[in-house]
Amino acid sequence: MPSTLAHAKINLSLEILGKRHDGYHDLVSVMQEVSLADRMEIEVAEDLQLRCDIECGPIASNLVMRAAHALRTEAGGPGTHITLHKRIPVGAGLGGGSSDAAAAMITLNRLWGLEYPCPVLTERAAAVGSDVPFFLTGGTALVEGRGEVVTALPSHGVSWYALTNPGFSVSTAAIFARLPSASWTDGTATRQLASDIRAGAAPSLAVNALQGALFDAYPAALRCFQHADGLAPGHTVVSGSGPTIVSQFDTEEEATTAALALRKVGYWSCVVRNCPTEERNLPCRALSSL
Ligand code: C5P
Repeated sequence: MPSTLAHAKINLSLEILGKRHDGYHDLVSVMQEVSLADRMEIEVAEDLQLRCDIECGPIASNLVMRAAHALRTEAGGPGTHITLHKRIPVGAGLGGGSSDAAAAMITLNRLWGLEYPCPVLTERAAAVGSDVPFFLTGGTALVEGRGEVVTALPSHGVSWYALTNPGFSVSTAAIFARLPSASWTDGTATRQLASDIRAGAAPSLAVNALQGALFDAYPAALRCFQHADGLAPGHTVVSGSGPTIVSQFDTEEEATTAALALRKVGYWSCVVRNCPTEERNLPCRALSSL
């Protein structure tokens, strides 16, 4: 049975430019695919079925099912049975559900004989969720619009991160709803990071405009951040709408030491490395645009 990995992402930087007429926000972000991954088994079948090895909520509203539905009608109504082995924490700012949806789209695009090119897949992916298009490209990328404008960036070397969270889920919509317009910026810090990376700099962590709204709503997320930042001062930032906190380290050993210390305090924590843009052959990875 075909098996595929669906990797998590972190936001090295995330700025919100303003609110749009459709209710979404325009953003600019540098996203990084990392080694933590869900595993999925996907086979062609008569009907659509999704099984998950943890409690994944209502199956019908699962992003993987929505991704399959988004391609199914045009493929002439074939089915698929998907088994999802979750490793990425749910509702944690790591894009797990979006990555699962993108992995399903990439695989079904082939298994169902659709062979859609990148622009078509991207359009279908954006209709499933704002973060889904990034996962068709993966690696390191500059992400704009509401998430659907993805430009691949080169990856330089290996980066090590400790990911830490306080063990609860957060609704992205709820964090965006609490975001004051005072948190809107013009994207300069994030675009600077992208151009530094293009010029050959190793990726670093910059800003996250959603961080304040997360901490206001969840003081426990702020306490978690303070613990993590204490072990990597100035190299710690929230990923997406949180509550996962990213701390960057020079070596795997340093990241592991920090992750173990954070687990001792009672947090969920793991060590990941970056997945370089150049390493995986994803459908929208345009190496010429690097
Ligand atoms: O696109 P997705 O369903 O993942 O977004 C979840 C929610 O996050 C949206 O309903 C919206 O409230 C908010 N959002 C936003 N602007 C974005 C992405 C998400 O306001 N660019």
